[in-house]
Amino acid sequence: MLITLGIETSCDESAVALLGSEGEVLFHRLSSQIPAHAPYGGVVPELASREHLKALPLLLREALDGAQPQLIAVTTGPGLVGSLLVGIRCAAALAWARSLAFVGVNHLEGHRASPFLSLNGRPARIPPDRVLALVASGGHSSWYLDVGEESRMLARTRDDAAGECLDKVGKVLGLPYPAGPVIDRLARGGDPGRFAFRRPKIRDQSGDFSFSGLKSAAIRLIRAEKIDDTGDEQLRADFAASIEAAVVGQLLDPLNGFVREHDPELITLSGGVAANTALRQGLLDAGRRLGIEVLLPEKALTTDNGVMIARAGQLAWARGERHDPRRIDAFSRKIWHPPGMRKILEARR
Ligand code: KG4
Ligand code: ZN
Repeated sequence: MLITLGIETSCDESAVALLGSEGEVLFHRLSSQIPAHAPYGGVVPELASREHLKALPLLLREALDGAQPQLIAVTTGPGLVGSLLVGIRCAAALAWARSLAFVGVNHLEGHRASPFLSLNGRPARIPPDRVLALVASGGHSSWYLDVGEESRMLARTRDDAAGECLDKVGKVLGLPYPAGPVIDRLARGGDPGRFAFRRPKIRDQSGDFSFSGLKSAAIRLIRAEKIDDTGDEQLRADFAASIEAAVVGQLLDPLNGFVREHDPELITLSGGVAANTALRQGLLDAGRRLGIEVLLPEKALTTDNGVMIARAGQLAWARGERHDPRRIDAFSRKIWHPPGMRKILEARR
């Protein structure tokens, strides 16, 4: 494979990485915008674009110092269009000026590649033939089945994403943005059985999730029990553990059925919520019970990063995908079937 520069700017992290021909990480750097958005309690799109404009040229100068990439891979969607365009235009200009190979990458394809990567210089692992993959982040929550080069979505959230649900509940609780990691920390000292949240009933057999009902129930509970306005640290910890358990429970609920139906050799987890302690442990336990290997991404590769985009770019290039840097554009849609990429078929029953 080609030595690859990966560029990621879809949301609130500017990130670049350089991968060697076997997917080994040669360089990676990330500039987080969390401090810039924290006062607003969430990502401000216009601010995000401006922060990418400031950070990306500096990161690229560092990455390219003495390096000769052969392929440039950049996230083209889904994400914030203004932010995506900053990365895309920088990447396209570089590819055009240096006559380099160029490919646009789906952000979710990036996340899905992350469990196979290592930050300590080892080559990327090659996936087996049948992989069951859970992606859970601030914008997406879906299960996929990959069989060779074919990929299909088995289940997805009907409304909020898992991380979005935790972030919104945490905001009402008065936690700093993003609340997901803070809830994770609080939950470690809490009792997940203290508050029971009802599983939403989705009327078909799809295995789809819904987090917006859980979010509303949790917010009602915070107000009723005044959990946002209490000195009772145990109450807050118990609440955090309970909401976390409800989210993890929903995400893992369809797993047994999927394993029975599709007989995977490997189960992977990725996306920002893949950093969550209870989700990681829950999936490892399920894998042990089912006798199937579970591959988790390194914690540092769970948030948006350039390494996963570079690797997804290498794999896309190997599959024959190519883009013209003069014609590449950004896409904001949450569910995106990129032209020419491997088919992500929604298996609605
Ligand atoms: O993948 P990501 O960096 O951005 C998107 O593509 O959305 O995911 C960010 C999401 C946020 O919702 C954040 O609260 C959540 O991942 N997150 C966590 C943890 N770390 C990040 N949620 C639960 N537990 C964590 N440890
Ligand atoms: Zn992401």
